[in-house]
Amino acid sequence: MLPLATAYFCTFAHFSYSILMDLLQSIDRGKLPKHIAIIMDGNGRWAKERGQDRVYGHHEGVISVREIVNASAEIGIQYLTLYAFSAENWNRPKAEVDALMELLVNTIRKEVEELKKNNVRMHVIGDFESLPAICRRELNEAIDMTAANTGLNLILALSYSSRNEIVNAAKKIAEKVQRGELKAENVNCEVFEANLYTSKFPDPELMIRTSGEYRISNFLLYQLAYAELYFAPVHWPDFRKQNLYEALLNYQQRERRFGKTSEQIQTNTPEHV
Ligand code: IPE
Ligand code: IPE
Ligand code: MG
Repeated sequence: MLPLATAYFCTFAHFSYSILMDLLQSIDRGKLPKHIAIIMDGNGRWAKERGQDRVYGHHEGVISVREIVNASAEIGIQYLTLYAFSAENWNRPKAEVDALMELLVNTIRKEVEELKKNNVRMHVIGDFESLPAICRRELNEAIDMTAANTGLNLILALSYSSRNEIVNAAKKIAEKVQRGELKAENVNCEVFEANLYTSKFPDPELMIRTSGEYRISNFLLYQLAYAELYFAPVHWPDFRKQNLYEALLNYQQRERRFGKTSEQIQTNTPEHV
């Protein structure tokens, strides 16, 4: 006979599995965002709430990363950008920054085979040169090893600042104009976007932030112009498949109007009619 606790756990596990399947089946595969961007926030508070050091929260956050990468690939998301380390995060205590860099190296090293197997292609955006040499080496290796993959594009934002990205794009364009390679009057959104880190990727349609904070924290300021924003009330280490499915369902219930009226969207009327 099963001990009571085990029986209870089995029932509970079965119950949550069926919720997960119900959620998954409610998602319209024809209306998925191509690109999801996530601000993975709340690791430190999650650990503190458990009487642990902040770094413990970062370690547990890796389990969520693995699950969300796999779930996104499974369901057919084409691009997933994860905000893993901001340019401002360099201002944290040295011990935490060192632990995060070490965790990054170890995680990439451990996961790269799995990424390869799952047809995931890795990319990095941010100030790559500011990362420690060992991180750059490990990342470059993973980028090369997964370069031929054709499934999910996993984009890690590391040492990333959207303002720096925008200022750098302006600088690159100014230099091209100065060298006579480009005319100022030909600078438009397309030219500008070609000079961002994200030139190869479509804009995210859905941006998720965990931990109940309602801010963008210097993340994809240009690219999120028309993204739907979703704020999950859980810390990142608690954000799992079910939470991703809930975010997708919420996204699919929204009407994306892009400046038009609701009537235009519903009747599919062209402009000026
Ligand atoms: C997100 O969690 C991870 C990084 C920014 C690297 P935090 O470390 O910001 O955790 P909180 O927000 O302080 O709880
Ligand atoms: C944003 O989280 C950066 C990452 C998730 C990597 P932070 O925790 O650094 O953001 P703020 O400082 O609270 O806005
Ligand atoms: Mg935070």
